[in-house]
This record gives sequence, structure tokens and C-alpha cells, in this order.
Amino acid sequence: VDSFDEECDYLFKAVLTGDSAVGKSNLLSRFARDEFHLDSKPTIGVEFAYRNVRVGDKLIKAQIWDTAGQERFRAITSSYYRGALGALLVYDITRRATFDSIKKWLHELREFGNPDIVIVLVGNKLDLGSSREVDLEDGKSFAEREGLCFMETSALENLNVEDAFLQMITKIH
Ligand code: GTP
Ligand code: MG
Repeated sequence: VDSFDEECDYLFKAVLTGDSAVGKSNLLSRFARDEFHLDSKPTIGVEFAYRNVRVGDKLIKAQIWDTAGQERFRAITSSYYRGALGALLVYDITRRATFDSIKKWLHELREFGNPDIVIVLVGNKLDLGSSREVDLEDGKSFAEREGLCFMETSALENLNVEDAFLQMITKIH
């Protein structure tokens, strides 16, 4: 039995979104369990993981939902976003098309998500900088224009993963 549940000050839901294979599931497994899988399979339906985080003197239990980037494997959109207070909107810095899709994902988040949802734009696979197709500045200026937080990460090398999630979590409270 997890005694944390009795002491938990807040429980909140956050979601991951973005194209297939950008690294959503690996960002989550890195954050929740410090695990990374080179050979991970596309997500089918919905998975979720928990992580307890201390922010100041508050204990927060973050429930983070993960679904498929591929349309045919996705869960029902409205229930996926319902009640979410935070989101990581993820693209792959080595595939321009995944960055071009961000507009579509953002539109969906704003249509179905909480109006006050905290969104962090995440450019993942920073370890593959030599194959970069999206400049740091492109991500940054898109985020600024749309009022999002922004971070480049590597789930593989565990760069800024904690920071991306914590930025979202601390902004909610
Ligand atoms: P869907 O579930 O289909 O939406 O994909 P996803 O966004 O969950 O991607 P997933 O986490 O399954 O990762 C896809 C592939 O990218 C896997 O082979 C991962 O090992 C790889 N990958 C994920 N993050 C990184 C990273 O930071 N760097 C590198 N080099 N590879 C990564
Ligand atoms: Mg996945």
C-alpha cells in the first residue's frame, strides 16, 4: 500500500500528444520509471503512469496519459483530453513533418482540453542533433507565438526530461 495517497495534496491529469514515433512513450517511461527502450512498439489505445512530485511543501500525484500518434490506434479524443490540466506536445527534431503537425495537435488540445491547460512544446531526440531538421529557434518562436512553454529533450540520454514534466507540473500549481 502506498502511504503517499493519504498525504497527497493534489492529484492531476496530464496528457502526451504528438505524431507517432516522436518519443512520447519513452519520455513518459523515462520520467515515471527512469526507463528507455530502443525497440518500443507504437502505443495502442491508452496507457498511463503516475509519478509523485514534491513542489515546495505540496505533494502532487501526476497521472500522465499516453496514446497513439497513429490515428487508427487512438482512443476517443474527447475522453482522452477531458480533465487534463497539463500537456506535453511532442515533435521529433529530426523529422520536420512532426513539427508541421504541431498546429493540428494544438488545435485538438484547444478544442477538447481545459481552457487553462498548461502546454509544454517538446522537441525530442536532442541526442540526434547531427540529423536535425527543426532549428531550436523554430520551436522557440512557435512556442512564444502560441503562449506555450518550450524545451528540447532526449529521452535516450535523459536530457531535460525531468525539466519538461516539472515545468508543466509546477506551472499548474
Ligand atoms: P506512438 O506510440 O506510435 O505514438 O509513438 P511514440 O511517440 O510513443 O514513440 P516511442 O516512445 O515509442 O519512440 C519511437 C522510437 O523513437 C523508439 O524506437 C524509441 O527508442 C525512439 N526514441 C524515443 N525517444 C528518443 C530519443 O530521445 N532519442 C532517440 N535517439 N530515439 C528516441
Ligand atoms: Mg507511444
